[in-house]
Amino acid sequence: MKRLYIQEVATRDGFQNEKQFVDTDAKIALVNALSACGFAKIEVTSFTSPKAIPALRDAEAVMHGIARRDGVVYTALVPNVRGAERALSCGVDEVNLVMSVSETHNRANLRMSREQSFAQLCEVIGVVKATPVAINVSLSTSMGCPMEGDVAAEEVLRWTERFAGLGAHGVTLCDTTGMAFPSQMKALCERVREAFPALELTLHFHNTRGMALANTLAALSAGIDRFDASLGGIGGCPYAPGATGNVCTEELVHMLELDGYDTGVNLTAALNAAALLPGLIGHDVPSQILKAGRRLDLHEAPPVDAGCAPAQQAFAKEGA
Ligand code: COA
Ligand code: ZN
Repeated sequence: MKRLYIQEVATRDGFQNEKQFVDTDAKIALVNALSACGFAKIEVTSFTSPKAIPALRDAEAVMHGIARRDGVVYTALVPNVRGAERALSCGVDEVNLVMSVSETHNRANLRMSREQSFAQLCEVIGVVKATPVAINVSLSTSMGCPMEGDVAAEEVLRWTERFAGLGAHGVTLCDTTGMAFPSQMKALCERVREAFPALELTLHFHNTRGMALANTLAALSAGIDRFDASLGGIGGCPYAPGATGNVCTEELVHMLELDGYDTGVNLTAALNAAALLPGLIGHDVPSQILKAGRRLDLHEAPPVDAGCAPAQQAFAKEGA
C-alpha cells in the first residue's frame, strides 16, 4: 500500500480567512484533536503581522498551549525575520516561509517585490539555519495568478531552485486560487520532481473551481506523495481576489483510502474534528463527506406499506 503524507492546514490557511475570531482555547483543542488524527504535519498558525492577519494574533499562545505528539511535525507560516524569531521562541519544528511566484500577488500579499521578498527570506533562512528547525518554502500562485493569469513552469522551477540552493529542505507548490488543471499539474509535478529529487515536495490545492481532487490524482500520477489539505474545506488567502477553500481533508482522505492508499489519517477522527468547525467559525463548511457521509454509510430503506407513495409502491413491486 503506497504511503502518502497528509498535512493539515485548517488552523492556519483556514482560520486566517475567517471573520469570526476563534478563541485561543478552541484553537488549541482543535489542534490537539488533529494531533490524534494521524496527520504527518499540522500547520498550527502564522506569525504574521496582527494587523494583516488579526484572526491569528494569538499565535504564541496557541503554539505554547498545544500538546505535541511524537511523529507529528508542527509548522507555522512565517513572513519575515520578526515572524521567524517569534516562531523559534515557541519551539516550532518547521518554519513555512512564503512568497508568490507572481509579482502582482506577491505585492498584494506581502507588500513588496519578489526580489525584496527573496532578500528577506534569505535573511530568515540565515537565522533559522543556525537552529535544528526545518525550513519549508511555500510558493503561492504557482499554477496561476488571479491578477496576471498563467504562470510559467520555468518561473516555478527558477524559484524552487533558488530556495533549494539556500538549503530549504522542502518546497510547497500552492494553487492559491484554484487555477490548476490536471494535465498542467502532471507536467509541472514531473518537471519539479525530476529536477529536485531530494526535495520534500508538497502540493497545496484549493478547490476554487472544483478541480482540487482531480489535480491531486494528476499529481499522484507524477509521483507526488505529500499534500496539504484543510478540514471541512475551509481556507483561502485574504489577499487573493476570489480565493476559497483548500482541498477538503476528509474528501481527500476518503478518496485516497478508496483507491487503496495509506494516508495515515483516521477518517472517523478527522470527520469528528470537522464536525466542530461550523460551531467555531459560525457558518457551514464546504465538505461534501461531512454532509453525505462515507460511500458505504448506508441508510435505512424507506418503509413499504399500503399508504406509501406511488413511486415507492412501484419500487416495492419491482423488488418483490
Ligand atoms: N509579527 C508581528 N508583527 C509584525 C510582523 C510579524 N511577523 N511583521 C511586521 N509586523 C508589524 C510591524 O511591527 C508593524 O507594526 P506597527 O505598525 O505597530 O509598527 C506592522 O506589522 C507593519 O510592519 P512592516 O514591516 O511595515 O510590514 P508591512 O506592513 O509591509 O507588512 C507583512 C508585511 C508581510 C509582515 C504583513 O503584510 C503580513 O504579515 N502579511 C501576512 C501575509 C499572509 O499571511 N498572507 C496569507 C497567507 S499566504
Ligand atoms: Zn492556501
